[in-house]
Amino acid sequence: MTGGTSRDVLGRGLAVLGQAIREQPRIFAVAVSGSVLFGAMVVASAFVVGAVVGEVVVPAIARGSVGTGVLALAAAALFGLSVLRVVGIFGRRLGAGYMQYRLQAAYRRRVTRRYLDLPLAWHQRNATGTLLSNANSDVEAAWYPIAPLPFAVGTLVMLVGAVVSLFFTDWALALVGLAVFPALFALNVVYSRRMAPRQARAQRLRAEVSGIAHESFDGALVVKTMGREAQETARFAARAGELRDALISVGRLRGVFDPMLETLPSLGTLAVLVVGAIRLRQGAITVTELVSVAFLFTVLAFPVRAIGWVLAELPRSVAGWDRVRRVLDATGEMPYGERRLDRAEPRPATLAFHDVHFGYEPAEAHLPGAQVLGAVGFTVPAGKTVALVGPTGAGKSTVASLAVRLVDPDSGTVTLDGVDLRELAADSLAGTVALVAQVPFVFDDTVRANIGLDRPGISDEDVWAALRLAEADGFVAALPDGLDTMVGERGTSLSGGQRQRLTLARALAGRPRLLVLDDATSAVDPRVEAAILAGLRAPAGGGAPASILVVAYRRATIALADEVVYLEQGRVVARGTHPELLATVPGYADLVTAYEQAEQEREQSGTYDEVTPLTSGLEMDR
Ligand SMILES: Nc1ncnc2c1ncn2[C@@H]1O[C@H](COP(=O)(O)OP(=O)(O)OP(=O)(O)O)[C@@H](O)[C@H]1O
Ligand SMILES: [Mg+2]
Repeated sequence: MTGGTSRDVLGRGLAVLGQAIREQPRIFAVAVSGSVLFGAMVVASAFVVGAVVGEVVVPAIARGSVGTGVLALAAAALFGLSVLRVVGIFGRRLGAGYMQYRLQAAYRRRVTRRYLDLPLAWHQRNATGTLLSNANSDVEAAWYPIAPLPFAVGTLVMLVGAVVSLFFTDWALALVGLAVFPALFALNVVYSRRMAPRQARAQRLRAEVSGIAHESFDGALVVKTMGREAQETARFAARAGELRDALISVGRLRGVFDPMLETLPSLGTLAVLVVGAIRLRQGAITVTELVSVAFLFTVLAFPVRAIGWVLAELPRSVAGWDRVRRVLDATGEMPYGERRLDRAEPRPATLAFHDVHFGYEPAEAHLPGAQVLGAVGFTVPAGKTVALVGPTGAGKSTVASLAVRLVDPDSGTVTLDGVDLRELAADSLAGTVALVAQVPFVFDDTVRANIGLDRPGISDEDVWAALRLAEADGFVAALPDGLDTMVGERGTSLSGGQRQRLTLARALAGRPRLLVLDDATSAVDPRVEAAILAGLRAPAGGGAPASILVVAYRRATIALADEVVYLEQGRVVARGTHPELLATVPGYADLVTAYEQAEQEREQSGTYDEVTPLTSGLEMDR
């Protein structure tokens, strides 16, 4: 758990506030000026009210008549003070609001930007729900105290002013002020320290609750088909119950401290009246002074609460800030180089693996990371197609990830046209290679947007050309709005095979010079898959073919490849043409034959494409 201990929370909370002020100094200055103006007017109004009572009301009672001139002057003074007070409140509120929401927006951007920079390994360690709450409620929590901060700072200035003016009035009354205001401050500090662990716990539980909810909705299909609704609801209810208890404990503490904070200034007023009455009798102060000071205590009671609001929000702010910092300070992003490949000439690129070793980071730091790839070396020559074949878990997807630099090798190099991928600039890499992943991802947007992805220079003709290559033009043309059809969240209105072909078209639309297909057409009919691959190897219209690295199982697909790389347990066991490997590598022959049998059964039961398992019916109902 992050979120500091109660001991250091005050110091760290103030540091967070300092950070906010450093980032928005001008707006903060505006807000504090407004607040100080307000405070000065409050103190001034206490003395004007005192003067009115001492100079106007008391003589009037004694004489039985009121001087209208003096009264008008007093009324004008009070009115003027009120107007200035309103100006002060306006400036403070406006400044505080601007500051709070600007900081929120800035940090939301920073956090989400950081998510995109952080490597895949980091994302695999962090639940989606946590990431959502980092960008949302944690950023909000971090900047909660900003709203009352200018008020509190203004109040502090006002308190100092009040105590000083008390000393000028009477030392005995000043002592009352010196006792009450620091006591209020101390009570607020105790309050915020007690609050710290409770707020940190609540903030963590908020993230967990949103995490569970996210997972349940995300896995709605599994939850429904496996009849897990009751268990999922119970799992959610348990954590939601913990959050409720945590928040109630926050509320309980608030219930104890709020009345105390409310009462203390009233006790101060009482003490002022008692001490003041004695001093008045001694002739040390005048009625004007007594009324001014008593009134001052009354009007100060409310602003002093602002300090309490800030202190009470500090623990939550620190908890949120820690969680936000954890993202912003996370390391492991892959720095890009400066080099770029020549794109002027649209020729295919050469991909080469040289003695690549790779292991995923262990889930927990103390566990050893198992090696997934060992001494992998092969080449995809320019314009050629290489099939990557191997049993499940052999490391094919890992090779695909290395080829497009989702991960970097532990040792060895992956090169494109002889240049180490790590030396390439980000846009050069993205413009040269395209991966179609094993699990297709479709955005909740139109077909056109899903394929074009706002990349410059992709016209509708290019989109259609890509769709044709991906054998997807037929079904897209049949959609009600064609390219403008919305495909639903994650493409729920499409079949599995349609989704796969859409993501393939997306990759093709960027005219990559190297295409990496990780089992990208598994839900597509085998004949269509072979047609797609044949089309990629020899594009209609005579354009240059891309180099292709394809993870494949089907004999028809593999047979189209110029070379087959056979992978077993992270090692290249054999390389050669399909007939060569069939003849010489027993494991390879077994695998291809076994797959073919399974394939035939699957084909007979008609589970391809438009009726792919897990994607029919149920999802359409949602
Ligand atoms: N993110 C990860 N963290 C830790 N280990 C992983 C991760 N991804 C894969 N592995 C492990 O790496 C090995 C290779 O996985 P990979 O996904 O590359 O296999 P594959 O050949 O693509 O399998 P399949 O044919 O089932 O897609 C497996 O043992 C797997 O458990
Ligand atoms: Mg895989």
